[in-house]
Amino acid sequence: MTATQINLVQSSWEKVVPISDTAAKLFYGELFELDPGLRSLFTSDMAAQGKKLMQAISLAVRGLNDLGKLVPVIQDLGRRHVGYGVQDKHYETVGTALIWTLEQGLGPAFTSAVKEAWIEVYTGIATTMQRAASETVAR
Ligand code: HEM
Repeated sequence: MTATQINLVQSSWEKVVPISDTAAKLFYGELFELDPGLRSLFTSDMAAQGKKLMQAISLAVRGLNDLGKLVPVIQDLGRRHVGYGVQDKHYETVGTALIWTLEQGLGPAFTSAVKEAWIEVYTGIATTMQRAASETVAR
């Protein structure tokens, strides 16, 4: 991930923050359309869940400049997701729904360079979460 990509992700995310409630709704709508089976994993209030998700993405996006601090936070998040019943394969579906949501929210500002940068960032976060999760199971 280059400094330019970090900038692209951070500046594009700032445009999503003001519409984060709508973005969260769009995201879960798409996620459950892609895989209706995922709905049963979510037991708490979806509006509250949407806020938590948006806050976590904000934290991750703002933390990209200091990976030393961000990585342990993401590892903890990955370990907690084991307890929510989340499996490795689910990360791809969530990634697809996230990219789709950004595309809806940003419109023409979601250029191919912005998309590439988000795919790199999401893949990095997902891989870090998955690795921490698999180490938890093995123990
Ligand atoms: C970038 C990746 C992800 C981020 C930033 C993220 C963020 C969060 C956050 C902040 C929470 C609140 C609880 C906590 O902090 O432990 C949460 C809960 C949860 N997440 Fe994720 N998540 C990600 C990936 C996934 C994936 C791939 C799934 C699979 C479907 C998933 C399903 C869930 C479920 C089921 C809960 C618990 C909901 C409940 O309590 O009802 N998440 N997530």
